[in-house]
This record gives sequence, structure tokens and C-alpha cells, in this order.
Amino acid sequence: MRKKQSVFFILAAAVFMAVSLNAYAGDVEYETQIKPVFEQKCIKCHGSDSPELPEFEKDKKGYKDKLKGPRMDTYTTMISFVGWPDTGAIMRRLDDGKNTKDGKPGNMYQNLGDTEEERQKNLALFKGWVGNWTLKRWKEISKEELDGIKVRY
Ligand code: HEC
Repeated sequence: MRKKQSVFFILAAAVFMAVSLNAYAGDVEYETQIKPVFEQKCIKCHGSDSPELPEFEKDKKGYKDKLKGPRMDTYTTMISFVGWPDTGAIMRRLDDGKNTKDGKPGNMYQNLGDTEEERQKNLALFKGWVGNWTLKRWKEISKEELDGIKVRY
């Protein structure tokens, strides 16, 4: 009986791992995977009490001093920092330095986690969600590169 149970347990664990690995390699979902990270790591400075981007840009320094970044707590506000109009902003700010010109991490990378392991795990989630992890701005990006961004508009 014991043996049977442990065989069952090992099988169940293997199935679970295969399913979660698959989810990890496949499409990352905003609602179930990005939003929880955002709520844990970003919302205190990018939540509903933060200004939307145009408002933020009128007084960047003032908001920065209050530790308020532009609002990104909804799907639509968040994706405007991925594809348009602030193309690549999420990628530039969250990159760990592997894709930046100066090799330094973007200044929001540190907010992804308390340990390097946690930061890398959450970065992988954002990368999976975005698809084509390009740091380019609207003026530099090609149609093909833009097409590679998987986030839906
Ligand atoms: C302690 C407060 C704080 C936390 C936590 C924080 N941010 Fe920020 N963020 C800011 C401030 C302030 C700015 C604006 C100043 C600047 O550009 O650096 C900003 C700017 C940004 C920008 C650039 C927006 C633009 O104008 O193009 C992005 C993208 C961003 N944050 C994403 C995130 C993400 C994603 C997280 C969570 C992993 C996060 N931030 C966590 C304070 C924070």
C-alpha cells in the first residue's frame, strides 16, 4: 500500500511539473501571472493613486520625489508601456543588463524581487508575456520587431 501511494505521488508530481513547465514555456497570461507580480512589486508606486502618463510627464520630478511613477495598474495602462506609445519602456526598465547598451540593469529591475533568484524568475515571466524582448523605442522599432510582441492590444 505504502509503495503504491508513493508511486502515485511521484507520478502526480511529474505530471504537475510537466504542466507547470509547459505553462512557463508557453504563453504567459496577464491576469494570472503578470498582475500578481505587479501587485506585489510595483503597485505601491504605479497604482490607482499614480497619474496617467501624460499627467506624469507634466511634473516628472515632483512625482518622482513622491516615489510615484506613471499609473500601470490596469491592462490598458500597462500595455501602453510595452508596444505604444511608450514602446519598450517595460523592457528598458526591467532588463537585467543583458540587453542594455551600457550593460547596466534598467532602474526598475531591482523592484522585481528581493533576491537575484526572484528577480530572474519575475523577469522571465515578463519576457514570456512580452514575447519579443526589444528595448527599442517607437521611432527605432521595425514592423517585424513590433509584430514579435505578443501582448494583445
Ligand atoms: C518605489 C517605487 C517604485 C516601485 C516599487 C516601482 N517603480 Fe517603476 N517607477 C517609479 C518612479 C518614481 C518612476 C519614474 C521615474 C523614473 O523614470 O525612473 C518609475 C518609472 C517606471 C517606468 C518608466 C515609465 C516611463 O515613463 O516610461 C516603468 C516601465 C516602470 N517604472 C515599471 C515598473 C515595474 C514593472 C515595477 C515592478 C516590478 C516598478 N516599476 C516598481 C517608482 C517605482
